[in-house]
Amino acid sequence: MTDNLFQPFALNDSIELSNRILMAPLTRCMADDDLVPTQAMADYYGRRAEAGLIISEAVIIRPDGQGYPNTPGLFTQEQIAGWHKVTTAVHQNGGKIFAQLWHTGRVAHPHFFGSEVLAPSALAVEGSVPRMRELTYQVPKAVTSGDIKQLVIDYAQAAENAVEAGFDGVEIHGANGYLIDQFLHHDSNIRDDEFGGNPENMAKFPLAVVDAIIDRIGEEKTALRVSPGAYFNIAGDSRDRAVFDYFLGELEQRNLAFLHLGIFDDSMEFDYLGGTASSYVRENYKQTLVCVGGYNAETASTAIAENKFDLIAIGRPFIANPDYIEKVRNGSELVEYAEEMLMSLV
Ligand SMILES: Cc1cc2nc3c(=O)[nH]c(=O)nc-3n(C[C@H](O)[C@H](O)[C@H](O)COP(=O)(O)O)c2cc1C
Repeated sequence: MTDNLFQPFALNDSIELSNRILMAPLTRCMADDDLVPTQAMADYYGRRAEAGLIISEAVIIRPDGQGYPNTPGLFTQEQIAGWHKVTTAVHQNGGKIFAQLWHTGRVAHPHFFGSEVLAPSALAVEGSVPRMRELTYQVPKAVTSGDIKQLVIDYAQAAENAVEAGFDGVEIHGANGYLIDQFLHHDSNIRDDEFGGNPENMAKFPLAVVDAIIDRIGEEKTALRVSPGAYFNIAGDSRDRAVFDYFLGELEQRNLAFLHLGIFDDSMEFDYLGGTASSYVRENYKQTLVCVGGYNAETASTAIAENKFDLIAIGRPFIANPDYIEKVRNGSELVEYAEEMLMSLV
């Protein structure tokens, strides 16, 4: 019944996936105190190499991108070497892996890096760091155009570091209310300079990051995750629709490896998008689309057969079932995900 999930899929001339199931990016907070990936992480990813493509947990591009404890980085030689162990384990088992490049913007906390929190505008996000409730979020500094230039340089350097570490490509984390997404929503971007105020300006930094990374490592190795429907760390605004209409049109011209939706539950509807985020993106972007959020193999297979998207990313079930692909292929029963599973790396 789920045969279409097991057809190979060419992202482009240089990257072919052996099946249509991606492992979604899943932050596990298990890097060492220098934010270096460990052998246990290499083993964890290696066990999941049967996925058509693994997207790594989000990886911070530089120290002030950190918003959670022990999230791995890609800005020191030790971190690159740690990731090399991970990519080697995945490749030895026949898999492919992209690094998800991350800066949390206003969801960062100075507890982790000791300098200012940076964001498009000086608007704090409510709440505090999960599992570290005493760390309430700060009012960020609105980035200057000099800060923005440096951020673009640092994203491109992290992409180059990812390739050096053996990754097959990168997925830019433009979703879930983090830095890039903060530029794309009116709730978090009230700038009145060339980076705010209208769709072209609000998309300028995100597109600069995309273009700098394409320049550095090639379009065939560059992917992007987006959240047109605000659902996490950001409130929606009906004016966001025009921003994403413009942004998706620009992305369409860039031949990314794929565009990936960032959401927890793809049955959520957004008034200003006229339905689900996935149906909105499908209508406004004609290239390869990866969807995610509450799917199982059967519902994903049906949606792909109905041409709602091209590839499925699976998150929580992959935490619970390292052998997810084999189980789906054989029709074996899956272990159900439970939050306690986040405490260890199996
Ligand atoms: C523990 C956990 C960690 C996550 N970490 C990330 C992350 O690092 N980057 C990201 O873009 N999404 C992250 N997500 C979201 C997932 O990629 C995915 O969109 C979400 O879990 C919905 O898919 P699912 O229903 O198949 O789990 C995370 C989700 C969970 C449950």
